[in-house]
Amino acid sequence: MKTQNLETIKKWLTEADAIVITAGAGMGVDSGLADYRGQDGGQWGKVETETEKTVFETVNPAAFLNDPVYSWSLFGKRMEEYENTTPHQGFDILKKWIQKFDLDYFIITSNIDSHFQKAGFEEEKIRELHGSLAYFQSSNNNLSDKIWKTELTGKNIQLGVLDNRFPMCPDSKVMARPNVYMFRDDTFVNTRTKAQEKNFQSFLERNNKKNIIVFEIGSGPHVQAVRMKTRFLRSNYAAKVVRINPKDFKIKLIHLPLIFKELILLKKSLELSRALKIQNKQKFHLSQNQ
Ligand SMILES: NC(=O)c1ccc[n+]([C@@H]2O[C@H](COP(=O)([O-])OP(=O)(O)OC[C@H]3O[C@@H](n4cnc5c(N)ncnc54)[C@H](O)[C@@H]3O)[C@@H](O)[C@H]2O)c1
Repeated sequence: MKTQNLETIKKWLTEADAIVITAGAGMGVDSGLADYRGQDGGQWGKVETETEKTVFETVNPAAFLNDPVYSWSLFGKRMEEYENTTPHQGFDILKKWIQKFDLDYFIITSNIDSHFQKAGFEEEKIRELHGSLAYFQSSNNNLSDKIWKTELTGKNIQLGVLDNRFPMCPDSKVMARPNVYMFRDDTFVNTRTKAQEKNFQSFLERNNKKNIIVFEIGSGPHVQAVRMKTRFLRSNYAAKVVRINPKDFKIKLIHLPLIFKELILLKKSLELSRALKIQNKQKFHLSQNQ
């Protein structure tokens, strides 16, 4: 990372009142999770090879009901991956900066893995644009709009599928489905994500006219939901934007293309300048007392 970029980010962080982390699938890559369109075609690529169909054809509510064995195996496997993976060090670095710079914060993510919650970010400061795989709803939203946190693990679900047993909605007594936004999805129940959006609006009201910095991490250009939020914050709140992405990092000048591991460099550099400041202060006090 160029020293000049580092200095700019340091200045932005020091001046910021609030930080918004906008994150896509690339945020999970350093934890060991596959993104969707990345290396070897990512998770979508795998589904397309397995089914010989596009993901639009296989991951939608109608296909879900048509082939629950395939669909629940797919989601069960994904849940197991998310449950068995520990969020990487970058999550902690961001959390420490929020404390260190005394920042209000909000997370906006298209990820459905609950890894921000797992890393200790507050539930009411997270907006999950595409829902969450930790929550289920009825597969028939006309019968019930209940959303509940599932107690089933990914492994439980995959074992059940082997016996043609699928998670059920306790309210509507029909098969459940994950409360995640699929393709061509007209049965997604949005009350949970709507409540999260309300929290985000309150965050924006609190921080209107204040200095906001955005770290956009691991969001690709194919699905624009996360990038749209970054652009919204830049246009409407004059937010400073740092995009962290090793590949798809093109962004207008004064915003910085960064590689994720450079968060760690940035952290070291911030710690170094803090140590230097303390040293200088101590020297100053010493010379005053002499
Ligand atoms: N963990 C999850 O919950 C998960 C996983 C895969 C996909 N998804 C879903 O995928 C959809 C696709 O959109 P997307 O843009 O998020 O995914 P994407 O796969 O289209 O793009 C991922 C981006 O991350 C970047 N990237 C790869 N490694 C990175 C790293 N180590 N650090 C930083 N960036 C890195 C890539 O260059 C790419 O631009 C979203 O709707 C999301 O819901 C979620």
